[in-house]
Amino acid sequence: MKKFSVVIAGGGSTFTPGIVLMLLQNKDRFPLRALKFYDNDGARQEVIAEACKTILKEQAPEIEFSYTTDPKTAFTDVDFVMAHIRVGKYPMREQDEKIPLRHGVLGQETCGPGGIAYGMRSIGGVLELVDYMEQYSPNAWMLNYSNPAAIVAEATRRLRPNAKILNICDMPIGIEGRMAQIVGLKDRKQMRVRYYGLNHFGWWTSIEDLEGNDLMPKLREHVAKYGYVPPSNDPHTEASWNDTFAKAKDVQALDPDTMPNTYLKYYLFPDYVVEHSNPARTRANEVMDHREKHVFGACRAIIEAGNASAGELEIDEHASYIVDLAAAIAFNTQERMLLIVPNNGAIHNFDADAMVEIPCLVGKSGPQPLTVGDIPNFQKGLMSQQVAVEKLVVDAWEQRSYRKLWQAITLSKTVPGASVAKAILDDLIEANKAYWPELH
Ligand code: NAD
Ligand code: G6P
Ligand code: MN
Repeated sequence: MKKFSVVIAGGGSTFTPGIVLMLLQNKDRFPLRALKFYDNDGARQEVIAEACKTILKEQAPEIEFSYTTDPKTAFTDVDFVMAHIRVGKYPMREQDEKIPLRHGVLGQETCGPGGIAYGMRSIGGVLELVDYMEQYSPNAWMLNYSNPAAIVAEATRRLRPNAKILNICDMPIGIEGRMAQIVGLKDRKQMRVRYYGLNHFGWWTSIEDLEGNDLMPKLREHVAKYGYVPPSNDPHTEASWNDTFAKAKDVQALDPDTMPNTYLKYYLFPDYVVEHSNPARTRANEVMDHREKHVFGACRAIIEAGNASAGELEIDEHASYIVDLAAAIAFNTQERMLLIVPNNGAIHNFDADAMVEIPCLVGKSGPQPLTVGDIPNFQKGLMSQQVAVEKLVVDAWEQRSYRKLWQAITLSKTVPGASVAKAILDDLIEANKAYWPELH
């Protein structure tokens, strides 16, 4: 069996150790010859990398491991780039969340003005990764989950049209895992689904078991009462995520024929979200206090002790879809997966050049989207508005246009009007000076 060389871009990410453990668990179906980390913050990456070096030495000494901040070293001789960078890191996520809240608008990593601000930072960072890959390993594929995936995907579609990049998201997988629990199946692979929408903005229209039995009635009954909180809820689920899963109950009520992505709550219940936010302590603070401290603490413990059992790092099991995707390309498995791809007629009554999240069959030449057909007015209207926001952000980045970005924020369903949009924009410009292109 062929063995692959992978570079993880954003080696210093809190998700890197979980991905490494997941790659190790799946090495029989996706064998590695080399694993490299790349990050532009050498000190942050070193902690994660030194701990992973110990883990790899114990579990898979045959895999050649290295880490670097040098793009040429990182991107030379690789088959896959797995990218999860966060341009501006958590302190900028905190700004994205807190600035809109100061103006009474919700603050979120990927939705509304916060997601737009993050998009303006991410576009340049992800394009840079694409260019390194094309320069040093032109046959490689990039599996990108750097957020905000919708804006990043529109930017790469438009600005690097021939790049071998696939943009992906784990939210539908997480929700499908919960659906499987709700209907009493072993895991999400026991279900076959139909889904359409944009990234962090979509609906399931059909969920069947592998014999073709309709699971929607049972799901509908449960979700109408409890949202996506399964009968035996994992006590480790954080309270803020629990709220989001529970709120799916109200989101689902708007269109009980479908099952919603949890992110729709930010667009359909923005006032509720603002009321339930603490402007002094947002999700970024929770992540810095919990996940970041935990992961870096565990890595430091492993480094100090020189053995992996000294630090508790959890395997990111649901991230195995990344291996599914890599294996689909490497071995032409034709697995059916949700990906963010150009619509090109898959949704009949929707723009051909919109980046949509839909089921695709994945093989060695990439994704082949399945037909969705016509979608109803409610979804179509919401999606048209949101796609326009995403396109305006890329326009603004490309043209260095203040007005396009003002239009984008104004058009976001999370923002009440143009004057609030302008006030938020002016604060975001100030906070993002080191990251955004200068706007005129
Ligand atoms: P993190 O801040 O812990 O890690 C990001 C790393 O990227 C940092 O080490 C940082 O130094 C590095 N980085 C920033 N800019 C860079 C650049 N230009 N070049 C190279 N490296 C750079 O963040 P995290 O919470 O672990 O998340 C990482 C990313 O994964 C985020 O974009 C997050 O939104 C995304 N994510 C996406 C999904 C999805 O569904 N698509 C799921 C989980 C996480
Ligand atoms: C889900 C989404 C990601 C997002 C993450 C945020 O996994 O699919 O796109 O980045 O949630 O999680 P966090 O724990 O960082 O708030
Ligand atoms: Mn996502």
